[in-house]
Amino acid sequence: MSGSLLWAKAEAQRINNALDTGTANMVDAEIKLAQELQQKVRDYVRWHHQDERSQKGVSILEYGPGTVRAFQQKTLPLATELRGKASRCVLVDRSNEFLRDIEQLPAPCGLKIEFIRDDIFSGQRFFFDEEAAFVVMFGRTFGNLAASISETPPVTTVVQALKTISNSAKRCWLAISIGSDLRWDVARAYYEAHPEFQLNVFYRMKAELPVDDNFDPSAFEYEADMKGNDKFMQVIHTAIVNRDLSFNLNEESIALKSGDRLHLKNSFSFSEAFFRECANLAGLVPIDVLSDNAGSDIHVLEKAT
Ligand SMILES: C[S@@+](CC[C@H](N)C(=O)[O-])C[C@H]1O[C@@H](n2cnc3c(N)ncnc32)[C@H](O)[C@@H]1O
Repeated sequence: MSGSLLWAKAEAQRINNALDTGTANMVDAEIKLAQELQQKVRDYVRWHHQDERSQKGVSILEYGPGTVRAFQQKTLPLATELRGKASRCVLVDRSNEFLRDIEQLPAPCGLKIEFIRDDIFSGQRFFFDEEAAFVVMFGRTFGNLAASISETPPVTTVVQALKTISNSAKRCWLAISIGSDLRWDVARAYYEAHPEFQLNVFYRMKAELPVDDNFDPSAFEYEADMKGNDKFMQVIHTAIVNRDLSFNLNEESIALKSGDRLHLKNSFSFSEAFFRECANLAGLVPIDVLSDNAGSDIHVLEKAT
């Protein structure tokens, strides 16, 4: 199954679960925070009725829009709120599947949407100097930072990522969703209950890459390894090879031994104070933190001019 379909199904299940049981989860909590963001966004950009900014509008740039549902419930209301004569909505995602699904939606009235298939950390400038942009990153995508395993807080990586993202426009605000619950046992239990999300990459390798018949996706099991302190938590998504496995990838031979551990990716969470400190170091001014006080935060920042 494609990663996008896997996530769309899990997202629907979590929203229904929150409705049925009345208990919050990450998906449902973030939709509520996005609604709060929509109500406050004109204050953040100092939107005054009939002034130049409100006439031209403020563009939206989203890094990693994901599913149609996430786009419709979190991004579109913001783009509508800030729409003006010159504004656009730019969506950057590496996943063709996610972007194609959004592209097939009926065009929202008067909203110009651009689809960019690219890495979210490319550092590309998307706006002319005179355009103002509100940059969003929902779904804790920021936490998937590429960083090696470490006992120390990833200050340099976080600061560099924030600088890269804010390079997208000369004049911009950012709203970045972050996990802030630093309890290892809670995170480990959550991720280990859903190993299919991390192991799906091996099934996609089998389906999409030039691997030979010896490559067996079922030879990998999942564990969540943990690092961190009171400033950060790094969930090190790890695949463990459960038997000796030799295969060819693009005519290069690869030999894995039973027990080998492969670092797949990270999910970082950050304390509010640590993230604010990194934002300052990146030249950003913290202007608000929207929080459900249960581990989901959206940091709103402004690029210093
Ligand atoms: C955790 S999902 C979040 C999706 C959505 N924003 C939400 O709130 O549910 C991460 C999204 O970012 C995209 N993504 C992750 N890393 C990326 C990268 N390095 N470059 C481009 N897109 C990336 C994924 O394809 C996916 O759409």
